[in-house]
Formats: sequence, structure tokens, C-alpha cells
Amino acid sequence: MATLDLPALIDIHVHLREPGGTHKEDFSSGTAAALAGGIVAVLDMPNNTPPLVDEDTLGDKIGLASRSARCDFAFYMGASTDNAAAPTVGPHVVGLKMYLDETYGPLRVSSLPTVMAHFKSWPRNRPIAAHAEGLSSAIAIGLAQLYDRRLHLCHVSRKAEIELVRRAKEKGTSITCEVAPHHLFLTEEDAKELGSLARTRPPLGTQEDNEALWTNLEVIDAVASDHAPHTIAEKQSDDPPSGVPGLETTLPLLLNAVSEGRLPLEEVVRLLHDGPARIMGFKMPKDAHVQVDLDAKWPIRGEGLFTKCAWTPFEGMMVKGRVRSVSVRGAVVYQDGKVLAIPGSGRPLVLL
Ligand code: DOR
Ligand code: ZN
Ligand code: ZN
Repeated sequence: MATLDLPALIDIHVHLREPGGTHKEDFSSGTAAALAGGIVAVLDMPNNTPPLVDEDTLGDKIGLASRSARCDFAFYMGASTDNAAAPTVGPHVVGLKMYLDETYGPLRVSSLPTVMAHFKSWPRNRPIAAHAEGLSSAIAIGLAQLYDRRLHLCHVSRKAEIELVRRAKEKGTSITCEVAPHHLFLTEEDAKELGSLARTRPPLGTQEDNEALWTNLEVIDAVASDHAPHTIAEKQSDDPPSGVPGLETTLPLLLNAVSEGRLPLEEVVRLLHDGPARIMGFKMPKDAHVQVDLDAKWPIRGEGLFTKCAWTPFEGMMVKGRVRSVSVRGAVVYQDGKVLAIPGSGRPLVLL
């Protein structure tokens, strides 16, 4: 058995669905899934019901997470059509999430004056994180240059997008990006078999898109799950929502890529530890370790996952690499299939 200690691994893009979507996930189940996946802190997205867009909704969410989270956490504020004038930065807000395309829920900004207003008024010391597909990513990069501020592109998935990020970085633009595991390990070929279960925004790409992500790994700053659980009934309904779960499978899939020789182990640490901290600027949870067994082979199964949705687009995939135990602040919080952390033991990340 080849066990190895990794540092605090952080997922900078998750949807834990509280408030308003707790039949899909809640802070207790979602953070249990995080720990089982070797993740010690999560950054939660604002597309809740109601959306997180002001002081009140932020206060509510801090309360909910403080009572039930089992791992550490912080939040994105959502950019709405009318909250640019007085940005809420508040405690525990890592950045502004701006939806430039249609996704899940009503949070979206689509008029140029609104988008410009956000780029003008959002505090400079925190990034703007954009859901931007295709042309929208060029718009976001252009605005970041014009307003001279930090942009983080979420789930880059297309060849042209990653090439654009490379070019922007070469030109000195202050931009970072993340890639989601479903875009690294699945393509539209898999979507044919998975049907509506594979529906996600951005959609799964072509083989060529997929290869472009792998060949441009050096311009990718982080891997983030975009854990977006919906129930199996919802996904198999006539109008299936977009989104796939990923918190428990991201690290095993990356470790499997290490075992296949596709990814150096140091890259896993760069993409899940160094990158997240550098992009978002927070103190690492103290004394956090993730112990993995690089030799353990196992099939990914939705049944038995800690996420409430209990399905995975990676069903049946054999992977080599498994999380054995996780400890934070000196306490063992996960061990061999058991989550030991109790709801409320997670803490807000300390922002720098
Ligand atoms: O597929 C997606 N689902 N993309 C998003 O941007 C939102 C997410 C969700 O919240 O379900
Ligand atoms: Zn998104
Ligand atoms: Zn998302």
C-alpha cells in the first residue's frame, strides 16, 4: 500500500444548495461529500433560492453554514441586475460571481451597462469570477483589461477558451482560470450514453476540446468540481436541470490520471492546494492533511456517496487512488469511508 500525505485540498467551486434546494444537497451532506473526497474547504456559489446578493442573504448563509458545515467554507456574492451600486463584501466573501450565460437559477447579468457597473464598483482586492461560455469569456477578459482588475474564469471547457486564456496571460492580463473534472475526463461521446445525466453548463466538449485542456495544463490555475447536485428524478425529468456532482470524485480521478502517467503528482497539489489559495487569497486551515492510497483500485459508484443526490456521471469507472483519511486542526475528520466531523465543526476561511 503506497500511502501519501497531501496538504489541505480546496474546492473553489461548489453548489451546496442552501438555502432553497436542500432536497438536492445541504451544508451537512455537501461538506461530508467534500471530506470523503479529500477536500477540507469549499467555496460555495450564490445561485440559491433566494440568491445570495446582499447583506441579509449573506447573513443567513453564514448562519446556515456555521451551524451545519463539516468542513471549512467561504462564499461568492452574486452579481444581480441591481446590486452593483453598493457591493456587499462582508466577511467570508471571496469574490463576485457573475453569470454571463444562462445556467441554473435566475442569477444572470446580460446588459452591458450592468456588467460594466459591476466591473467598475467591485472592490479591487477580490476577484470577479465569471461563468462565461465561448464569446462571453472574451467579453469578460476584455472588461478585466479595460477596468484593470482581477478576473477568474470558471470551468474553462473549450479549446478556443483555453487558447484565449493563454494569450491573455501572455499579454499580462490579470486572469486565472479553473477547469472542472467532467471536462477533463468526459466528452460529448460520453454524453451520448449518459443522456440527460451529462447535461451541464458549459456542456461536455469534443475530444479536441478535451485534449486542448490537457495540453494547456500549465495555464490552468485550479481544478474545481463545480459540484452541482440535482436529484436523479430531476435529471431524468422532461426538463432536466444542468449540473453534475463532483466533490467525491475529483481527487480520485486526478490520482488515477497520476497512476496512468498523464499527470505528475505535484500538479495535483498545485491545482487543488497552491492554485486555490493564490487565486482567492485565504489562510489555509491549520494542520490539515489528506492521506491517500495511490494503489487502491475501486469502481466509482453513486450508491454510497455522501452527496444527497447519490449518482455520478462517472458511474462504474475504475480508478486507482483513494482517500484514506483527512485531518484538520489536528482532528481526524474522515477515515476509511466514515465522516467523523460533526455538523458545525467547519469554520469560515480567513480571507487575506
Ligand atoms: O451546469 C451547471 N449547473 N452550471 C452552472 O453554472 C450552475 C450549475 C447548478 O447550479 O446546477
Ligand atoms: Zn457555472
Ligand atoms: Zn457552478
